[in-house]
Amino acid sequence: MPRTLINVSNRLPVTMGEAGLAKSSGGLVAALEGLSREQYALRWIGWPGNVPENRRAAVRRELVEQFRCTPVFLTDEEEHGFYEGFANSSVWPLLHYMPTRFRYESSWWDDYQRVNRKFAQIVLNEAREGDLVWVHDYQLMLLPAMLKDASPSLRVGFFLHTPFPSYEVFRCHPRRDELVSGMLGADQVGFHTFNYMRHFRSSVLRLLGIESEITRIRHGGRTTYLGIYPIGINAPKFAQELERPELRDQIDHFRRTFAGKQIILSVERLDYTKGILQRLDAIDLFLADHQGQRDRVKFIFVSVPSRENVEEYRELREEVEARVGRINGKYTTLNNAPLHFIHGSIDFTELCALYALADVGLVTPLIDGMNLVAKEYVAAQRDARGVLVLSEFAGAAEELLGAMSVNPYDAREVADAVAEALQMPAEQRQHRMKPMRQRVMTFDAARWARAFVDDLASRDLTPDDKSHADEAKAALSAAVRAGQRIALFLDYDGTLREIERDPGAATPTPELRRLLDLLRARDEIDVTIISGRTPDDLDSFLGNYPFGLIAEHGAAIRRPTQAQWEQLDRNVSYAWMDELMKVLKVYEASTPGSFVEIKRTSLVWHYRRADPEFGAWKAKQLAEELAVLTASDPLQVRHGRKIVEITTTSVSKGAAILRILEAQTYDVILVAGDDGTDESMFKLDLRNLITMKVGEGETQARFRLPTPAALRRLLGDAIAAG
Ligand code: UDP
Ligand code: G6P
Repeated sequence: MPRTLINVSNRLPVTMGEAGLAKSSGGLVAALEGLSREQYALRWIGWPGNVPENRRAAVRRELVEQFRCTPVFLTDEEEHGFYEGFANSSVWPLLHYMPTRFRYESSWWDDYQRVNRKFAQIVLNEAREGDLVWVHDYQLMLLPAMLKDASPSLRVGFFLHTPFPSYEVFRCHPRRDELVSGMLGADQVGFHTFNYMRHFRSSVLRLLGIESEITRIRHGGRTTYLGIYPIGINAPKFAQELERPELRDQIDHFRRTFAGKQIILSVERLDYTKGILQRLDAIDLFLADHQGQRDRVKFIFVSVPSRENVEEYRELREEVEARVGRINGKYTTLNNAPLHFIHGSIDFTELCALYALADVGLVTPLIDGMNLVAKEYVAAQRDARGVLVLSEFAGAAEELLGAMSVNPYDAREVADAVAEALQMPAEQRQHRMKPMRQRVMTFDAARWARAFVDDLASRDLTPDDKSHADEAKAALSAAVRAGQRIALFLDYDGTLREIERDPGAATPTPELRRLLDLLRARDEIDVTIISGRTPDDLDSFLGNYPFGLIAEHGAAIRRPTQAQWEQLDRNVSYAWMDELMKVLKVYEASTPGSFVEIKRTSLVWHYRRADPEFGAWKAKQLAEELAVLTASDPLQVRHGRKIVEITTTSVSKGAAILRILEAQTYDVILVAGDDGTDESMFKLDLRNLITMKVGEGETQARFRLPTPAALRRLLGDAIAAG
């Protein structure tokens, strides 16, 4: 039985036009047509374009029955706020490094969420156990998380067809956190190039504080896999078209029309990312420089209308048309207008004929996720006569190494490249084109889709087994129900309470206080709060609770019945501090945002306010340097969460717990912590010990919860259920 693949993209492969529904010829449709029918049964969910209310029922029927498509209809308001507004006026320009084109209205965000939710509901209605769901592109960035939240067992993939920009640009978006979190909902996220993936990871780190490995991000007890899948063209369709007599006729027709001229072809949606105005500057330069060629060259622009309700696109169209007019006005001779501008779509045979005939394919986007036109031009060059002049800023440039690479902002360079291409000897043209064609025809759209979907289907999605904390909750509530004696040893920062940038701000929240009040009311439960903080800090945060307190990572304890703190490290020497302080001060000075904290029993270098990547790099260096310096002392250097800490080995949280347990026995003991200093508690050899890690990272704890909020909930629920 083939496995169902539900393909979700804003635009359906069938769009409503003036003459009714028409199959669109976009790259995505072609790519998915190449999937094996035996392996995958394909369905589509998406927007069929603007369909009048009274025709929707009929259109839906036709879409479902004839095309296996389920339509998502949008209201006019949604089309405006979601599609024209949020997706194409705010997200699109930032993904393409153009913050100056960015426009934003907060109501668009409501529409974007609403439409993503609409898509989610329809997907969830259709999806059955075991189906694969593949979500496409920037219009649906929230959808993966919505699907995963509602149905964790669904396998969800996401592919971004555009670039993912540097964090410095992406951070401009008012909803940047939500967009990145939405994508992270997917089990697998695909990009065209390594750089897009690298930028995405950097945004995940800087916006959400989640560290990652090159191809995977562990978060909330699960993993999102990342991969690079450069999309290709529909190679069999081009191969077939090149054999058709109709194509030969069309080529002959164009040959007669453009007799005696060399053709330089550009094809694209009329979009400001495509570098059309800059290209016109280059053409202007070329024609000014090569007076003798004005009769002999034809620059053909196929400009496909796009997003015409968006102001930026309307303005661009006007400007392009005016500039084309000016250039033709300047350089038209008695025999030739050098620029031939077509504003509209052309049919596939005409497109192939132009590709095949053109002496130069001039593809100069300022930035482009991939750019299929460059690959299609190469595919149509069966006799390898043409030369591809390609922007270095197109994703395709990484694969099409035989192209003449240009910087589209450098009009002089582009003009010179065109001149050189027009004169290139046949042998050199063949030498450049043939290997590219081989690649384009082999690594085609079908290969792309197969690679993505096969990976998605085979990923190991079993959640981190430590995350099954239900067992811990059940044991705890059973103990409460049975009236057993319970000890809770709870680390504070990062475990009971979320970390704050300013450590002084991490006072107990009202929600945490409610939990603590619940705990203090239970006689059979003894609570000890543990921390690396000073006794003063703990007294001021929690002093009025009748709880045990362990401060300074176990160097000081205050038992519940006592007002005084006991020092456990009376015989420990701290003479090492002065020397090592000098080292930490060097790192403080060279890492903006970092600072040194002097505790009574330890020295800590904090870098949570430093640049996350720079801070992590300096922390690694510091930890290595300290390890060498302290090799022969009873000291421990620990690289924890956003800190490097030096402590004496004679003091630990685990040892402090044992001191408390000398005076009292319990039926059940739960210890919870979030960082490396808590591992000494997880290693304790005690009967009925439940060990709980909060957050990511290696641990010896048996169970894991994603956040402090999850721990608070678990404790609250376990007690309530008892
Ligand atoms: N295309 C089209 N109609 C035309 C001219 C081109 O459908 O009249 C197709 C072209 O064959 C290519 C796609 O539009 O497959 C453009 O894809 P590309 O990746 O170059 O740019 P995008 O439009 O996705 O930014
Ligand atoms: C780019 C985007 C696609 C989009 C296409 C056409 O390729 O990555 O998601 O569908 O342009 O744009 P449109 O706004 O007409 O769907």
